[in-house]
Order: sequence, then C-alpha cells, then structure tokens
Amino acid sequence: MIAGQEPTSALLAEIASTGTDPHRGGYSRHLFTDAELSLREWFAEAAARRGLTVEVDGNTNLWAWWGEPGASAVITGSHLDSVPGGGAFDGPLGVASALAAVDLLRADNFQPGKPFALAVFAEEEGGRFGRACLGSALTAGAVDPADALRRTDPDGVSVADAARRAGFDPAAFGPDPDRVARIGQFVELHVEQGRGLADLDTPVAVASSILAHGRWRFRFTGQGNHAGTTRLEDRRDPMLPAAATVLAARRTAAKHQARATVGRLQPVPGGTNVIASTVDMWLDARDDRETVVMNVVDDITAAAEAACREEGCQVVVTKESFLAEVAFDAALRDRLLETLDGAPVLPTGAGHDAGVLASSVPTAMVFVRNPTGISHAPEEHAETADIEAGSRALAAVLRELAR
Ligand code: GLV
Ligand code: MN
Ligand code: MN
Ligand code: MN
Repeated sequence: MIAGQEPTSALLAEIASTGTDPHRGGYSRHLFTDAELSLREWFAEAAARRGLTVEVDGNTNLWAWWGEPGASAVITGSHLDSVPGGGAFDGPLGVASALAAVDLLRADNFQPGKPFALAVFAEEEGGRFGRACLGSALTAGAVDPADALRRTDPDGVSVADAARRAGFDPAAFGPDPDRVARIGQFVELHVEQGRGLADLDTPVAVASSILAHGRWRFRFTGQGNHAGTTRLEDRRDPMLPAAATVLAARRTAAKHQARATVGRLQPVPGGTNVIASTVDMWLDARDDRETVVMNVVDDITAAAEAACREEGCQVVVTKESFLAEVAFDAALRDRLLETLDGAPVLPTGAGHDAGVLASSVPTAMVFVRNPTGISHAPEEHAETADIEAGSRALAAVLRELAR
C-alpha cells in the first residue's frame, strides 16, 4: 500500500463508531450534530492527507480539490449524514470510494487533465430538518434559502441557529450558480437500496433514473383531552383520522401501483394518557410518473378529509418538497457503460444529490450491490469485495472523464 492509500472498507472502518444510535440501532448522523461535525472533520483530514485542498461552500457542502479549482470540473462524492437509525453505507460509501479512487488513480500515476474534486453534500436525507438534499438543492437554487433557514428540527431548533452554533454563517446560504457552472460532470457512487443487483448477482450497476418523489405534511387537529374522563362520543381525537390516512396511503398506493409511506407521526403533546390535540404525519409518495404521484396525494388527502369529517377534526396538507422524475444524462451514462463493460442499468426509487444536480449538469450514478436489499435501516450492507469493485469502477470512470 502506498502512503495515503487505503481501501474503501478501511476508510469506512475509521468512521464505524461515529454517530451510532444505541436507541434505534444503526446510525443517526444528522446535520450539525456532534457526529456529523466529526464526520466532516474526518473527511477534511482524509482529503488533506491526500494533498487535496478542502473548502466549505456557503451551504456548508464540502469540496476537496485535486489541483486547482476550475471550469468543466469532474466531481464525485455523496453525503455523510443519515436517516434516523440508518445503515453504514448510504452516503459514506460514495464519499469513502471517492477518497479511495484518488488513491487508486495516483497509484496508477494518473494526473487529472481537468479540474477534479470530491464533494460531500449537507443534509441529503433531510433527517434533521425534513428537507431532503438540502445542501445540493440550496446550491442549485432549487430551494429558497429563507425558507430553508426557518425550517426547524423536532426540538424547534432552526437551520439558521444550528448552523450558527456549528460555526457556519447562515447569511451565506443560497444559490451558488458559479459553483454549479464549474461542474462539468458529477458522478455519485452509492450502495444500491433495493434488490436489483442482488437479483442479478452482479456487483456494480449504472443508474438510469430516479422516481418522482416528494414529502407532504398532514397536520390533523382535534381537541386535546383526558384519556380517562372523556367519553368516546365527546372526543375529537386527531389520531383517528391520522390512522385512517395511514391505511388509505397503503390502499391508494396499491391502486395506482405507486409507493406511499408514512414513516413519521408526531402526536402533540404525546402523552399516553392524553388524547392528542394535534397529530403531524408525513407522507412520502413516489412513482415514475409525476401525475400518478399527484393523484396518489390527492386521493390520500380526500381520505384524510373524509376521516376528519367523521371525527370532528381538521386537516391541513402542506407540500414540503417535490422532485420530478430524473433521467440521468444519457451520454454520460453511455460513457460509464463503455468503461464498465457489461454493467447493468438500473432505475432507483431513492432520491440523491445527483438527482438534484441533474437539472443543471450532466450527472450519473454507480450502484454497488446490497445483498440484503434493505436500506435506511441497520441491515443495509455491502460486502468488502463489492465495495472494492465499486471503488475500482469509480476510479476507472473518473480516469476516463478527467483525462
Ligand atoms: C433518500 O435516500 C431518499 O430516497 O429519501
Ligand atoms: Mn438515503
Ligand atoms: Mn444516499
Ligand atoms: Mn390527573
């Protein structure tokens, strides 16, 4: 092994104990928490060890340049944050592979002929503040910085306050067209989040597209009251229409052959012996057809309203984010396929920073087999041999693009 050269699995081992969540299992690595800040430091140190120049952009994304920053840059990377109780690979695999790819290219005496950088995007999962791909969407101008800064975490801490406490300047948040204009191509390596590669018995794939997807908040209101003294006929319990809406989401998704998930429900005040006054419920809906996603949300909204009428409650639905279907750049995908001869092409239902950037710059993704087919859960996995195959594939692709 040459100096600074570490296989991707060794890099992942360095952060294996950062941000573990003993309560949920897996990892909770949320924006501007101690765990996430320490992962940023880890990346900056690993990049510096490789002689890369690290900068933090106004939206707190990290960039590590191999040589001088410049136009038509080849960029690779992913994210280091996680969902609550997530796996070890969603995000960090792409970052560790990017670092390892630099080592592999150097070991091969490769010098990029173009500006070349690794990127780590902030709050990809929206795990703390609810807006997926926050860092890349801010940079691309796809989200209003004032709205973003006002978003709060479950404890009521705003993005602005959390950023300030972590030493970042909230006033710097916002579109960064010059930075985006410098990107020639962006390639993100990611653990596959479904069973596609496991079923094909193949270690590496190239992505074709991402489903249209979005998040909606359903706020049910009723009357908070005592669990023991309030007769059933006197109740206005918002948990009932919320429960009916969870079931409607499943039914509606099945009817439209789409995907709809309620993964988060927050009763207020949240006491066992208290009828809730409010229940916030978040719906995640996805399909390859945008119109189907909208129909699914409309049908679920109608079911929520009907259930509220029955229970004397109200519901207000707020769209929190939406990204139309992404078809990755066909020419770039074909270049990847030429390099990764025989790699299958797979669509995905998962969102990525590469999907957000796809509307501004040519982007592509490389997937690495996940034998469990499980993701956003501690059981997400990638075998060491596949991890290293993925990193070699990424290095080969970058060599071709950055010649
Ligand atoms: C992110 O991984 C998402 O698909 O929500
Ligand atoms: Mn994810
Ligand atoms: Mn991810
Ligand atoms: Mn009492």
